[in-house]
Amino acid sequence: MDKKEHFGSKFGAMAAIVGSAVGLGNIWRFPYMAGANGGGAFIVMYLGFVLMVGLPIVLSEFSIGRAGKGNASSSFSTLARGTKWYLIGILGVVTAFTIMTFYSIIAGWTAHFLKEAILNRFAHQSEAELTASFKSFVNSGWQPIIWACLTVALTATIVSRGVKKGVEKFNKILMPTLVAIILVMCINSMTLSGFGEGMDFLFNPDLSLLTWQSALDALGQVFFTLSVGMGVMITYGAYVRQEENMVKSKAIVVLIDTSIAIIAGIAIFPAVFTYNIPPTSGPDLVFLVLPNIFSQMPGGYFFAILFFVLLLIAAVTSTISLCEVITSYFTDKFRVSRRVAVWVAASVIMVLGSLSAISQMDGSHIRIAGLNQFDFFDTLSSNYMLIGGGLGIVIFAGWFFGRRNLYNIMTYNGRYNLGFIFPVLMFFIRFVAPLAIAVLFLSKLGIFKM
Ligand code: PHE
Repeated sequence: MDKKEHFGSKFGAMAAIVGSAVGLGNIWRFPYMAGANGGGAFIVMYLGFVLMVGLPIVLSEFSIGRAGKGNASSSFSTLARGTKWYLIGILGVVTAFTIMTFYSIIAGWTAHFLKEAILNRFAHQSEAELTASFKSFVNSGWQPIIWACLTVALTATIVSRGVKKGVEKFNKILMPTLVAIILVMCINSMTLSGFGEGMDFLFNPDLSLLTWQSALDALGQVFFTLSVGMGVMITYGAYVRQEENMVKSKAIVVLIDTSIAIIAGIAIFPAVFTYNIPPTSGPDLVFLVLPNIFSQMPGGYFFAILFFVLLLIAAVTSTISLCEVITSYFTDKFRVSRRVAVWVAASVIMVLGSLSAISQMDGSHIRIAGLNQFDFFDTLSSNYMLIGGGLGIVIFAGWFFGRRNLYNIMTYNGRYNLGFIFPVLMFFIRFVAPLAIAVLFLSKLGIFKM
């Protein structure tokens, strides 16, 4: 089924895809994962996986959308009639819902923190006071729910305007803003006394910290940060004009996404060392540690606002892509209008997201497999669903869709000469990526232990 919607320009398509990739994953998750896994050692593995697994999957997934020209699921049906491959796409749509339920909570926290920053609430607060006010925010229950619903509503409003007038238009404005802000933050960080120590932590790999678990975390992070394994690239791939040199443009996307994660690290860790805060503090890094730093640093009022604007832009441009995967599927499958599809999806997300927010309150009894609902959905989606989906996608692309078809799609029927890059990519797609994922996946499932 041919999609009627397309991105209007090359830059718009690039902004939308980078907008999906660059998100909380880069600025919230990457720094704390790197911090918790020993900094440099983690980054070395992360970069290896980006190149050998991430880029090949981005290209496979994008090719499926470009050739199948449909939504995350129908693209498979078009390319493999009468088979069950389309189930990978359905898994992707379910994954989009799952990610949205916890992602929107963090996006909501971000919006709340932006309000706090504007009202200058971090100034002259001790660490204990900042922690107490964060806890009371989370434990109020209704506050995180309202903020999360607001970010979901904002996303839905943008997506309901359509691919060109909504998704593309907003990304075209927001993504350059994001890049400008993160560069300002990074330059500021270079003036801090802890810059050297921060750089050392980030880039001096202590190889003794390389463990099997940190390798798994690094691979999971690559999936999450590149938005692969669930159909964003399929859905957006169908909206991009065929004549674009996709290998080049996707390599640029991966490069930008990776650079922004590293730049976020450069912006955050020197500050952490300057103010003597342990770098290993986990998911709270951005919400507890940074306000504490902003309250002490010169110009902190300004930088706090800038930072939470940055984080909110990163979050919303990613929730837009998650919402678009669902919308594209719903409009085709149930033949409803875009507006109906978007708001039905948004309502379901708001309800599930609210339960996640409630499950984070102290004393909540909502537990699935021993985890609160928030952690359960986070772990389930990043560690199982994205990775499972990604495995299906590379196997489909490398072995079912096959070399000849991939060649035609990636080179636009031979128009772009990829030279030695194509055979190398094929090797990664057929062997390296599936193997790495299979090892990770099986060990996550506890089927074997290294
Ligand atoms: N890539 C986004 C981030 O880094 C998260 C995301 C995952 C978005 C999967 C869409 C799909 O924050």
